[in-house]
Parts: sequence; structure tokens; C-alpha cells
Amino acid sequence: MIKISPSILNVKENDLENKIKSLDNSGADYIHIDVMDGHYVDNTSFGVETIKKIRKVTSKILDVHLMVKPVQHHIDDYIEAGSDIISFHPEADENSLNIIKYINQSEVNSGIAIHPEINIEKFEHLLPLVKQVIVMTVIPGFGGQQFMENQVYKIGKLNEIRKNKNYKYKIEVDGGINNTNKDSCINNGVDILAVGSYLLSKDKTEYTNIINSLR
Ligand code: DX5
Ligand code: ZN
Repeated sequence: MIKISPSILNVKENDLENKIKSLDNSGADYIHIDVMDGHYVDNTSFGVETIKKIRKVTSKILDVHLMVKPVQHHIDDYIEAGSDIISFHPEADENSLNIIKYINQSEVNSGIAIHPEINIEKFEHLLPLVKQVIVMTVIPGFGGQQFMENQVYKIGKLNEIRKNKNYKYKIEVDGGINNTNKDSCINNGVDILAVGSYLLSKDKTEYTNIINSLR
């Protein structure tokens, strides 16, 4: 069954607790938390304190997507804040291999996120070590952008690699997901849909139906 990871990037800080509880009650599997530092991307967004706050109001899997550069010196904070999965962009830090090994030694699962301008081959050596690979279908930086259909082949490729090599990672797609493009992702082997504006722009009474319709 496809898992749904609502991205709360556009939720106002004072509305977070409410929204998280509604998503939790509506059958979301994960909560996708986009962390931006103003270096890897121009914007800034949530940080460690927000993750701690969210951890207090839900027991759902916290799917933390770091868009930060460099990465290494943040990692302990994000582990301790209560993340369940920490994914980062490997090109943002020269120590990506060590960072993955470090996360794997903790209670937290590691993941990598593939920027639309990056080829999977560049980070193929990391694939046996991670629990999750995020295929980005928008340029990282903000929510509400249009889905890049030309990235979907990466989902298929990652699916093929894991079958051939017996790797264990899950594949998540992130960016512009809605009910018209989710099927091409699912047909290519995706496991998790990160969904931002398509879900969060709706009234909370609609969350359950939308989440179910995306699976
Ligand atoms: C983009 C973020 C995504 C995004 C998802 O930098 O990583 O998680 O906010 O939101 P939508 O679904 O609106 O593209
Ligand atoms: Zn994200």
C-alpha cells in the first residue's frame, strides 16, 4: 500500500499543532518536514525546534527532508529532535558517506534526496546504505510548484536497481504531487508520496478522502 507523507511546508507555525493532529487523524502515514537553511536553497523554513514541537503532538513517522548545506554539523540536533528518517542532498556535503553511516548508527533511518539536476549514477554507491531515496519532482526551495514529469524515470530506475541488487530502500517522490500525476509514480514503483499543496490547501474535513484517493 502506498504511504502518504503530507508536507507541511506552507503551514503557519501557529497552526502547526492543529494541522498535524488533523493529518494524523486522517490516516497520513508520515509527516514530511522540509528543513531549509537559506544556503542549499534560498529560503529558510523549519528547524530543530519545530521538529521537537511536532514530535510532541504525533507518533507518526517524522520524515525529515534536509535542504541544508553543509549537512554534517546539523545531524546530532536533528537526531535528538525526534526525527524517524533524515534525508539530505548528498551533493551538499563532501562527507555524505560518513553522514549516512553516522545516522545509521543511531536510532534514526537515513535517506538521500535526488535534486532534479542530479543523476542517480552519481550517488549509486550510497544506495546500499540508505533506507529511503527521495526523487525530487520540483526544484527544492518552495511548495506549490509544478510536477516535473521528466523526473519520473528516476523512480523506475531506482526500482530496477533495488530489485537487481536486493537493496532495501523505499522510494519517495516529492514535489507537485496530485491525483493526476501520482499514477505514473506508482506505476514506476514509488512507495511514498510526499504531498504538500494538493492536500494542505484543502479543508481538513477533506483530508481523509484526499489521502485515500492518492493511494
Ligand atoms: C520542496 C519540498 C517539497 C514541497 C512539497 O522543496 O521539498 O516537500 O514542499 O509541496 P508541494 O506538494 O506543494 O510541491
Ligand atoms: Zn520535501
